[in-house]
Amino acid sequence: MAEEPNDSAAKTMLEKLQEERKSLPIYPYREELLKAINDHQILVIVGETGSGKTTQMPQYLHEAGYTKDGKMVGCTQPRRVAAMSVAARVSQEMGVKLGHEVGYSIRFEDCTSEKTILKYMTDGMLLREFLSEPDLASYSVIMVDEAHERTISTDILFGLVKDIARFRKDLKLLISSATLDAEKFSDFFDSAPIFKIPGRRYPVDIHYTTAPEADYIDAAIVTVLQIHVTQPPGDILVFLTGQEEIETIDEILKHRTRGLGTKIAELIVCPIYANLPTELQAKIFEPTPEGARKVVLATNIAETSLTIDGIKYVVDPGFCKIKSYNPRTGMESLLVNPISKASAMQRAGRSGRTGPGKCFRLYTAYNYENDLDENTVPEIQRCNLANVVLSLKSLGIRSLVNFDFMDPPPSEAVIKALEQLYALNALNSHGELTKIGRMMAEFPLDPMLSKMIVASDKYKCSEEIVSIAAMLSVGNSIFYRPKDKQVHADNARLNFHTGNVGDHIALLNVYASWKETNFSTQWCYENYIQVRSMKRARDIRDQLEGLLEKVGIEIVSNPSNLDAIKKAITSGFFYHAARLQKTGAYQTVKNPQTVHIHPSSGLAQELPPRWVIYHELVLTTKEYMRQVTELKPDWLVEIAPHYYQLKDVEDSSSKKMPRGPGRAAMS
Ligand SMILES: Nc1ncnc2c1ncn2[C@@H]1O[C@H](COP(=O)(O)OP(=O)(O)OP(=O)(O)O)[C@@H](O)[C@H]1O
Ligand SMILES: [Mg+2]
Repeated sequence: MAEEPNDSAAKTMLEKLQEERKSLPIYPYREELLKAINDHQILVIVGETGSGKTTQMPQYLHEAGYTKDGKMVGCTQPRRVAAMSVAARVSQEMGVKLGHEVGYSIRFEDCTSEKTILKYMTDGMLLREFLSEPDLASYSVIMVDEAHERTISTDILFGLVKDIARFRKDLKLLISSATLDAEKFSDFFDSAPIFKIPGRRYPVDIHYTTAPEADYIDAAIVTVLQIHVTQPPGDILVFLTGQEEIETIDEILKHRTRGLGTKIAELIVCPIYANLPTELQAKIFEPTPEGARKVVLATNIAETSLTIDGIKYVVDPGFCKIKSYNPRTGMESLLVNPISKASAMQRAGRSGRTGPGKCFRLYTAYNYENDLDENTVPEIQRCNLANVVLSLKSLGIRSLVNFDFMDPPPSEAVIKALEQLYALNALNSHGELTKIGRMMAEFPLDPMLSKMIVASDKYKCSEEIVSIAAMLSVGNSIFYRPKDKQVHADNARLNFHTGNVGDHIALLNVYASWKETNFSTQWCYENYIQVRSMKRARDIRDQLEGLLEKVGIEIVSNPSNLDAIKKAITSGFFYHAARLQKTGAYQTVKNPQTVHIHPSSGLAQELPPRWVIYHELVLTTKEYMRQVTELKPDWLVEIAPHYYQLKDVEDSSSKKMPRGPGRAAMS
């Protein structure tokens, strides 16, 4: 499989990688492992972080003939970066081009080809493959990797793959995990044998603080700087809870090291978080220049699976943002919580991969032993299930009560999801998928977004709505706001908001203007817009357009009818309606909660509209609505009559008026 045998540089590189493969802890167990896989249909595999599970097992399977007859070995990962970076590594080890024999598939990005035999993908993508290939006939082996992460998609996959393994006896299933949940996985998979791979590549020294830290952000900064001035060369990885925290620390670190001038070596700061465009995420993997030190500031997305060459020090403050869901109110929130022991082990495991490592835990050994939970609560037990229920319904699974969950979700949450899908017209009153629901399931988006797209058919504005959906899917990385040019950047942003059109239409204006310039990069610079995010939006948009065609929705443009566009948005997002209060804050209409317009919204500068609809809530110092558009309250009753009644949208001041003849005239 090696390319160009006469290319000696490449050959030695390949030889070196082959040597490295043989030095991994998993290598001595290669034959035993292959035999166990041959003898058993389902195997649970446990090994230390960095032992070689993700990169080596699929290669062993390929070498042992599991990819004959064009069948693939599929390996799922909870996160996009992991799927991409691991596939890149394996393609190097095999000496092939990424996307050929070894590829990856993540949402909105398929880097595979006809030739692909080893496919790394997010767990969510494999879930979607079930829709088009319910028996996964293209695969000879499925490896559910990082099973201990217990993402919602992984949990659903467990039930689905267990089911198909019953009638596809030739399909091998590997469930792999680094922690010691193995017994639980084995029990779930009908007592599947557990294969343990002992040993780790390099030792990791764990250090705790002697007393609890009052301010973990400050402690993290101090620790990074201390490592930088006192420890031998080697890059640093710091785990933080979110984008804002990362940006703050990024700035402080840059500021503090600048003052030190040439007295210390250069410190290169690289952020990574989910909303950062993929190409910028890839920056963390770039080799550090001689004499400098890199510090990667990461959220949990760097916690599992990744090998970042050169990372020797891990700084773990012990916190992460965890999604929690209140089925009563239907609100999802992200809150900072202590991590679990399993997470702490994963974090430490990011060092000690290409050499001995050190992990600085910014909490005490006592805290670790006594205060941290063993494992993180599975995502399925703490999030909105509408998406999952819709996928399962479209896979023909009628009753969720009978679905084989490893840990079932709370029944309240299932009921809430059914209610939501019913209100969205995705399910009928018998809980069966409707035509609209079937169309919605085709889109790899949250049900509210897919409903907005499907509804655009009715309002004859599909062209505009897919642009908005694509822009919303990119996240909050469209506008660029450099510290020294904030005023210019804000003015540029408000230009798209002329006429007080709201953030959704502003996003549409950005996309449409960019398209008019024939996708000019220069135009992006001039308008403080991130060109990479725009390119991603264009890619996503292309795919959504393809899906529109697939579900039979005509692409129709109606740019001047803003009400039609807003009604289509409301068809998906009527849940997210809020009303202005006397205090100047907003209150969500059902399940009242106080919320505010995010300062980055175009509407934040204007007289606040009485009624708004928002894309999402983010909790920073307050509960903020992000991407906000004005709404006419009677649309809610018109569009979602089984969710809103007239009384919900009556003007609140009318309720306080004395009963009398005047009342009937209101509304
Ligand atoms: N991009 C890379 N650069 C350098 N070395 C790498 C790279 N990717 C993997 N390796 C080497 O291969 C080893 C095995 O990596 P692999 O991802 O297969 O381990 P794993 O058992 O899946 O770990 P984890 O439990 O953390 O996911 C690493 O410890 C490292 O030594
Ligand atoms: Mg792994």
